[in-house]
Order: sequence, then C-alpha cells, then structure tokens
Amino acid sequence: MRKSAVLEAVEGLVEGEDLRRALKGVDIIGRIAVIKIPREWEGIRHLVGERILATLGVDSVYRQTAPARQGDRVRGLEWLAGKRSTETVYSEHGCKFFVDISKVYFSPRLSNERRRIADLVAKGETVVNMFAGVGTFSIIIAKSKGAKVFSIDNNPNAFELMIENVAQNRLNGRVVPILADAREAAAELQRSAERVLMPLPELAEVYLEDAVRMLRGKGWIHVYTHERGGNESMAVEGAKTRILKSAEMFAEVIRCEGKVVRSIGRRSYQVVLDMLVMPH
Ligand SMILES: C[S@@+](CC[C@H](N)C(=O)[O-])C[C@H]1O[C@@H](n2cnc3c(N)ncnc32)[C@H](O)[C@@H]1O
Repeated sequence: MRKSAVLEAVEGLVEGEDLRRALKGVDIIGRIAVIKIPREWEGIRHLVGERILATLGVDSVYRQTAPARQGDRVRGLEWLAGKRSTETVYSEHGCKFFVDISKVYFSPRLSNERRRIADLVAKGETVVNMFAGVGTFSIIIAKSKGAKVFSIDNNPNAFELMIENVAQNRLNGRVVPILADAREAAAELQRSAERVLMPLPELAEVYLEDAVRMLRGKGWIHVYTHERGGNESMAVEGAKTRILKSAEMFAEVIRCEGKVVRSIGRRSYQVVLDMLVMPH
C-alpha cells in the first residue's frame, strides 16, 4: 500500500527502471520515509522528497546515501523534505521504540522475522540477544513471552535508546541492556540461556563459539548470515554447509533449519539458521 502511495507521489516525475529500483528501497520508520534515489534523480531529489512527504503524510523524507556501514550498521543519510529530524517513534507488534536513524541501525523489514522468533520462544526462557540495536527483538520477545532477555550492543547510542525503550515498554528487569562487545559480554553470561540470537551477519559466524558457551545445556541459536549467488534454496544450503561445519566444532547440532529472511540485492540473501545444539 505504501509502495503504491510512493508510486503515486512520483508519477509524472520519473518512470521505468529507475522508479522500480527506488520503490524497492523505501522504508517507513515511524514518521520518517527513507528512500534510495537513483543517480538519474539527483537534480529532482528534493522535488521527489516533497511529493513523497505530501503523499505519505510522514513528517520527514531522507535519502539513503550509503549502505549501512560495518560495525554499528548506521546508514548514510541526506535530508530531502519536511522536518530536519532523524528521531522518531516506531511501533511494532504492540511495542514502541524510540529510534534515531542517524545514530543507530534500524530496519522495519525485519518485522516478520521478529514476530517469528518471538513465537518460537517458550514462556519463562532466558534469551541472549548479542546484537540488539535499540532492543527491538529483545523487547518484543520479553513482552510477548515474559522471557528474560540479556540485550547487548556496543553502540552507546543504541544502548541509550534501548534503556528508554525498555522503560517505555515497562520491561525494566525483564530486558537487561548491556553496553559491551558481544564477545566480552558472552564471557560473563556463560551457561545462562536457553536461546541466543545473533542478528549481525558480519559477526554471527565469528562469535558462534561465544554463543554456544552461553547455553545452559541443549538450546537454540539463531544465526543470521548473508549469502551471494544462486537462488534462495542454494543460499540456504550454502549457509547450512558452512555454519554447520563451524558449529560442530563446539556443539552437537541436533537440528538445523534455514530460510531466507529477505533479498538484499541481485542474487544476495539474508538467511537465518535456527540451530538446536548441545554444547560439547
Ligand atoms: C543489524 S543491527 C541489529 C538490529 C536489531 N536486531 C533490530 O532488529 O533492530 C546490529 C547491531 O549490532 C551492533 N554491534 C556491532 N558490532 C558489535 C559487537 N562487536 N558487539 C555488540 N554489538 C555489536 C551494532 O551496533 C548494531 O546495533
């Protein structure tokens, strides 16, 4: 519905392949729209921004100038129209999140995945989220399942927002924000959880042993990875083959199921593996 509203907004200004590419890249985060502007639109980008602002009824329109950078995953942004504010409130699955898109990673595209993971959690579980951002997965899990969640991020801005979000959703004590490198925090959280989330493809495989060490016994690890080439099922099989090999060094892998979370480019996919493991 939002995509067609954007289509309506830019009708008559741009067309064809440019339009299709740009529409794929629109994110609505609370009251802010973030759009990818093809090079050909450079000269009319503010006009496009104004049109999107009016049609979507958002407060601000920004253009993504660079992909989420390594490390904190923050995107490069340029203001196009409306209020010059990168702060907003985003609602998802009955929870509210303060977000500043210039300081922290945030993607509304993981909404279904956050619901899926929350649905897998059993009541009363202890969960560790190794790369928590503003606490999105952690808060949704704690709110819907009464789980306790250790919620780690090494970006001080994400940590500050996470503290606010935990309070805003009345989850003090249930979600425990930790400002640290996930490996350092993992050393303190050994044998403490039934489930570990690793929603950062760059480090998930590198920190796999740390994740295994946090399990009390048999437990689940959700590993997110990026796979290039081939189709969706080849991407899932590729991820399984590689990650199983690593995981089997530290644990018996009892079950391993994978799926594509989303497409991230031509023949590139974000894949998640749900692994039930027993640490060695
Ligand atoms: C892809 S984002 C997580 C998104 C979050 N799960 C969500 O749904 O909004 C990855 C996060 O990992 C954090 N990060 C990067 N390296 C880290 C590290 N070594 N230890 C802990 N957190 C790290 C980044 O600051 C970023 O907030």
